[in-house]
Amino acid sequence: MSGHSNDRSSSHAVTLEWPDGRTRTISAREDETVLEAADRADIALPHGCLTGACGTCTGRLLGNDGPSQAAGDKDPDATVEDIFAYQRRPRALKDRHRTEGYVLLCVASPRADCRIAVGSSVQSELVENPWK
Ligand code: FES
Repeated sequence: MSGHSNDRSSSHAVTLEWPDGRTRTISAREDETVLEAADRADIALPHGCLTGACGTCTGRLLGNDGPSQAAGDKDPDATVEDIFAYQRRPRALKDRHRTEGYVLLCVASPRADCRIAVGSSVQSELVENPWK
């Protein structure tokens, strides 16, 4: 891993991308969740329970290519585990979803710069046919 500091007060540039192409880059501290950081920046993201149980806040990791990332440090294949620390267990996500890059923004704190797809359509990608 690249040597990120363990200072919990350090922050990371998190770029949010909406389906309509709109993007906003916010600064999220390691001791707050992405949802809290967005709220601080007056950005309303979908959410419900705030405890990792409902899945309403689901985002999808697009990579660790934040604006301040050194060129050689970019990794489009970075996993959710590389980039986020969960403050509570993300119960709304199956293991398969986690490995596919889905992340619960109400309980995830960043450990690196990253880009995340947001908006309610991300959660709908997870909804499966319950009869299968
Ligand atoms: S708001 Fe319910 S899982 Fe995040």
